[in-house]
Amino acid sequence: MCGIVGYVGPRQASDVLLGGLARLEYRGYDSAGVAIMAEDGVRVVRRLGKLVNLSGVIESEPVPGGVGIGHTRWATHGRPSEENAHPHADCTGRIAVVHNGIIENYVELREELAATGHVLRSETDTEVVAHLVESYYTGDLAAAVTRTVARLDGSYALGVVHADHPDTVVAARKDSPLIIGLGEGENIVASDIPAVLEYTRDVLVLHDDQVATVSAGEVVVRDGSGEVVADPELMRVDWDLDAAEKGGYEDFMLKEIFEQPTAIRETLRGRMGEDGEIQLSELDMTPEQVTAIDRVFIIACGTSYHAGMVAKTLIEQWARIPVEVEVSSEFRYRDPIVDDETLVVAITQSGETADTLAGVREARERGAKVIAITNVVGSRVTRESDGVIYTHAGPEIGVAATKTFTAQIAALYVLALKLAQAKGTLSDERVESLWLELSNIPDVVEAILADLDGLKECAAEYTAACSSLFLGRGIGVPIAMEGALKLKEISYIHAEAYAAGEMKHGPIALITEEVPVVVVATQGHTYEKVVSNIQEVRARGAHIIAVATHGDDEITRHAEHVLRVPATSEVLSAIPATVPMQLLSYYIAKARGCNVDQPRNLAKSVTVE
Ligand code: F6R
Repeated sequence: MCGIVGYVGPRQASDVLLGGLARLEYRGYDSAGVAIMAEDGVRVVRRLGKLVNLSGVIESEPVPGGVGIGHTRWATHGRPSEENAHPHADCTGRIAVVHNGIIENYVELREELAATGHVLRSETDTEVVAHLVESYYTGDLAAAVTRTVARLDGSYALGVVHADHPDTVVAARKDSPLIIGLGEGENIVASDIPAVLEYTRDVLVLHDDQVATVSAGEVVVRDGSGEVVADPELMRVDWDLDAAEKGGYEDFMLKEIFEQPTAIRETLRGRMGEDGEIQLSELDMTPEQVTAIDRVFIIACGTSYHAGMVAKTLIEQWARIPVEVEVSSEFRYRDPIVDDETLVVAITQSGETADTLAGVREARERGAKVIAITNVVGSRVTRESDGVIYTHAGPEIGVAATKTFTAQIAALYVLALKLAQAKGTLSDERVESLWLELSNIPDVVEAILADLDGLKECAAEYTAACSSLFLGRGIGVPIAMEGALKLKEISYIHAEAYAAGEMKHGPIALITEEVPVVVVATQGHTYEKVVSNIQEVRARGAHIIAVATHGDDEITRHAEHVLRVPATSEVLSAIPATVPMQLLSYYIAKARGCNVDQPRNLAKSVTVE
C-alpha cells in the first residue's frame, strides 16, 4: 500500500506533491520520490527512508515546474532502497511512473521486455509499466497507458508523465484507490482524499479500468476501450482533515477492520495458478524436500501466535503434517527439538519482534528451514529467514492487530494448501473447491461489515463489565483467544479465553451474572458440544454473546445476543468469526472512552525481550 500524488497547475508541483505525500505517509514510508516536468525534461528525485529525506534534498536543490508525480512507498517487490523507490523511468528517461498495487505477471513482462532490449534497473514490479508505456507510445500518452494496463494482471493505481506532454499527468486504476481533486485551474491526482483537501473538496472518483488525462484545465476520463466516460463519479467531501486521514472513520482501528476484505484479497491474489497449482515460490522447496518435512513448528507472539494456532488445524487437517505452535519467548529458551526435517514458520506482522527473531536464529542454528510470514517488506525477519511470505495488508497504524491477523490467516491457508498439494494429501478437486471458498472469504467479511445491526447495542450492555470469558472449540479456540486479547488490550476489561470443554475444570468458578461469556458457536462438528457448554455457564447465570451462523435459529434460545456471520465450511470459519469480535471489543472500548489506536502500555512492534 503506497501513496501516490500527481499535480498539474500553477503552483510549484514539488510543494503540492510533498505536502500531499505527507498526508499519505500513513500508507507507507520506506522511501519516497517525485518526477517533475522541468525545462530540460523529466527530473526524478528519490530518497530512501522517510519523506523528510526527500523534502530535505528538494529544499536545498529545488526542482521548479508545475506538473509532476510523487510517491511514498510501502515495499511489496524489492527491498526498500533508492533504486526501488518510485518514480520509475523507461529506457529513455522521458517517461516516469508511480504505482500502488501489485502486478502479478511482472516476471513474465520483465522477461518479455528484456528480450526486446529494454534495460530494467530495479527489483520492482512497477518498472515494467514504464517500459511498456515506452513500447506502446506513438504520440498519445493516454492510449499507450490504456494498452499497457491491458497487459497487467493484478492491482494498480498509476500516475504517468512523459516529456512530450509537459502539461499532463495520466492516471489509471484497477483494484487500488485513486481519486482526482478538482481545483480552480489545477487538478491533483491522489491515492486518498487527505492529499487534496488543502486545495479542493470536489473529487472525481476514478473507477476500475478507467484512464484519466489530467491537465490544469480539465480531466478527461476514458474507459478501457478508449471511449470518453460522459458521467464520471463526482463527490463533495465534507470531512475534516483528521477524519479524512482515517478515511472518514473515527479511528485507524475501525478503518483497518473495514480494510480486511482488501487485505485478505490482496494476500490471496495470484496464489492459484492456471494449472491448479498453488503458487508459493517463496517456499523455495522441491516436492521431495516438502515430502521430507516431518514436522512443522510455528513460532510467534500475541495475535500472530493465535494465527499460528489456526494454522495448526489447517496444516494438520489438510497436509497431515504434525504441527507444534509455541510462543517465541518460550521456544527460544526451551532447547526445542528441531532439525533439518522441520519446517519452522515464524509469524510476525511487524517483522521486528525480538523474541520471534531470536527464535528464528535458534531454529536455523539447529538446521531447520525457516519461513517468515510478515507484513513489512525489508523488516529484520525477512533478512534472517530462508523464505518470506508477505501478507499484503498495507500498514497497520492501530496498535491492536486486526487486518494483519486476518491477512496472516489468509497466507496460512495458502501455505497449508501448498503443503497438502506437495504431500498429495488432498485431491485436485478438493483443493479447487477449498480455493473457491477461500477466494470468497473477502466477500463474506464484506457482508459482515455491511450488517452491524445489534453489535453496538450488544456492546453497550457490557461496557461496565469487569471480567469476561471467551470460549470456543477446535478452530474456535484461537479465535476466542484472539477475541479475549482484543477486548483486554483496548478496553482494559479482564478477558480470559478457554477451550469450551475445559471450562468446567476451573474457570466455571468465575461465572456470575456480571461476567459476560462470548462463545464462538459457528456451525461445525462440535456445535452441539458448544451448545452444551453454553448451557452449563448459563445455568450459573452467565449472559451469553454467541458468534453464530446465519440461519441457526436454535442458538437464539441459548444466547442473550447473537452476532451473525455467513455460513462457511468449518475450517474456513476462522476469519469470519474473528470480525464480529473485533467490532465488539472496539465498540465496548469506545463506549468506555478508551483510546483504541494507542492502548496504554502497548507498542506496535516489540523490539525488546
Ligand atoms: C495484539 C498485538 C500483539 C502482537 C504481538 C506480536 O493486538 O498486536 O499481541 O501480535 O506483539 O507482534 P508481531 O506480529 O509484530 O510479531
